[in-house]
Amino acid sequence: MDLGLKGRTALVTGGASGIGAAIAVELAREGCNVAIVDLKRDDKAEAVLAELAAQGVRASFCEADVRDFALAERVVQSVAEADGGLHVLVCCAGITDDGLSWKLTEAQWDRVLDVNLKGCFAYCRAAGALMKDARGGRIVNIASINGLRGKFGQANYAASKGGMVALSKTLARELGKFGVTVNVVAPGMVRTDMAGVLPPEVIEKAVDETVLGRLAEPRDCAIVVAFLCSDAARHVTGQVVQVDGGQYL
Ligand SMILES: NC(=O)c1ccc[n+]([C@@H]2O[C@H](COP(=O)([O-])OP(=O)(O)OC[C@H]3O[C@@H](n4cnc5c(N)ncnc54)[C@H](O)[C@@H]3O)[C@@H](O)[C@H]2O)c1
Repeated sequence: MDLGLKGRTALVTGGASGIGAAIAVELAREGCNVAIVDLKRDDKAEAVLAELAAQGVRASFCEADVRDFALAERVVQSVAEADGGLHVLVCCAGITDDGLSWKLTEAQWDRVLDVNLKGCFAYCRAAGALMKDARGGRIVNIASINGLRGKFGQANYAASKGGMVALSKTLARELGKFGVTVNVVAPGMVRTDMAGVLPPEVIEKAVDETVLGRLAEPRDCAIVVAFLCSDAARHVTGQVVQVDGGQYL
């Protein structure tokens, strides 16, 4: 599908693995130059960078922890300077650290909220300011259906993802008149490393919850993100698109 994204610049946090990597590759397939922000430029990251380069686009990697607010500002500025502006931001960096609410520690709460919600805000704040001045842009934040329905054992994660939804709707309101759209993709369970650590019975339960009888592959999410980043989606903002095979209907 040609989404008219050729030559645009995209920054994807958490792009070295799983859903973020699939999003980076999908945007590159559509002709975007892609900057990945992730913790480490390891072998997995190198493989993603090679896939991006194979699409004939410019690919770069910034080693950064999304929790670092000041660094987010510098990373966004430098990507925009190197690539002639920043047109697309996808916030996909995320972690889980599960536990029943009465056992969850302050450290577990802070870490998950800091990476998932504060990290998202840090990049949206920096990129949103540039997009506002440029009078256009696309932001897509990757939440989760568990941020919409709640999830046993995930008070911190569900709160962080619900917070991302509220943050995105607020940004959509603030940035709309500047031609910037802000949307959320909320996946159900997706076959990635994050899901790979779960016991088989939890995976089976998730499959049973879907109406399609299967889990998503990362690309199922990436294709929806690419559409939301395109001009074709210019009239869609402040929305939460569930990519969950009907897991949460
Ligand atoms: N896999 C699922 O079932 C599922 C379901 C719903 C939502 N999600 C969300 O999708 C996103 C991607 O998940 P995934 O399954 O691909 O996981 P993943 O673990 O494969 O990828 C997450 C990436 O984020 C990076 N990251 C983690 N902490 C970071 C930090 N502090 N700074 C920078 N980068 C950091 C990791 O290094 C990794 O590359 C997450 O936000 C997750 O919450 C996943």
